[in-house]
Amino acid sequence: LLKSLTDTFGRQITYLRLSVTDRCDLRCTYCMAEDMKFLPKRDVLSLEELERLAGAFIDRGVKKIRVTGGEPLVRRDIMTLMARLGRRLEAGDFDELTLTTNGTQLAHHADVLCSLGVKRINVSLDTLDDAKFEMLTQRDRLSQVLKGLDAAQDAGLEVKINTVALKGVNENEIAPMIEWAHGRGMEMTLIEVMPLGEIEGDRVDQYLPLTAVQDALASHWTLTPIDKKTGGPARYVKIEETGGVLGLITPLTNNFCAGCNRVRVTCTGEIYMCLGHGDKIDLRAAMRGENPDEALNAALDRAMLKKPERHGFDISERGAAPAVARHMSVTGG
Ligand code: GTP
Ligand code: 5AD
Ligand code: SF4
Repeated sequence: LLKSLTDTFGRQITYLRLSVTDRCDLRCTYCMAEDMKFLPKRDVLSLEELERLAGAFIDRGVKKIRVTGGEPLVRRDIMTLMARLGRRLEAGDFDELTLTTNGTQLAHHADVLCSLGVKRINVSLDTLDDAKFEMLTQRDRLSQVLKGLDAAQDAGLEVKINTVALKGVNENEIAPMIEWAHGRGMEMTLIEVMPLGEIEGDRVDQYLPLTAVQDALASHWTLTPIDKKTGGPARYVKIEETGGVLGLITPLTNNFCAGCNRVRVTCTGEIYMCLGHGDKIDLRAAMRGENPDEALNAALDRAMLKKPERHGFDISERGAAPAVARHMSVTGG
């Protein structure tokens, strides 16, 4: 039996975030640079390689795999990978297969996702206003996302909406969006913006601490912490008046790194040990060399030794260089 993946702080890695493409059909301004250069196709792992990588993590005790991008559903052969992982899920080799998506392509894939064992998905959506959506994403696709959400719920998928809290942008939409999401049986999670990659505009202008948002919500609603755990960084509260669940992801105002259980692999096969650090190890080289299984396991052991204790995100200095040079889209969050 192979040994589990445990880092030097005693944290066991049971959650893999697997990015299958760096491409996206949206251009969210906090996520990508305006002139984002995408990888040439030849640098991107094949389906077989992605499957093999996922398998190596499953063999080392990973129980949850979240497929990300870029936007995972823009990769042409993505459902073949999902189906293959779905077979291992069905065999009981791991516990949860899921995906984080921007929702634009969901209408095409919802039924199939559900049929291959995906139970719930997270959909990124920062506004319900057409003009604002277009401003934030540089694309006019809100109605397409809303159709995707309908399709996902009709197919029987549980949907959680991810909303990045942006000062002066969607600040006044937060409460109405919560009511909207809860009203249609979806959970919603708010996220503090993180300083990854050079972008247009200043993070200081965007940053809205969720402590302030939570206080504002608590002035007209009753928020009760609940001990729901999904394996990610969110902590959850129940809102009595809406009857729904709200998640809070607070890398800046309430650090959660002590409970970290995850690593990220990019679509080129690089493992990043922390979202907030640039350090990485090339798993593709290991996989393509001699004795790939042994080399891959040795590379994973090395990765565990290098996982940092926590990120050092800070948004306080105007115009400061981002804490991490790579853009969020490289690891899909
Ligand atoms: P659940 O399975 O529902 O718990 O999902 P999740 O929160 O793990 O995944 P999702 O892709 O929905 O992530 C939501 C947001 O949380 C994204 O903006 C991520 O960047 C952020 N996030 C996820 N994991 C981490 C993490 O390890 N560290 C930090 N700082 N942010 C994270
Ligand atoms: N800070 C916080 N969240 C971000 N996301 C993308 N870029 C950032 C950022 N700079 C979110 C997306 C999506 C998730 C995968 O990551 O909105 O919900
Ligand atoms: Fe883990 Fe790094 Fe995320 Fe903290 S920032 S929870 S250490 S991946």
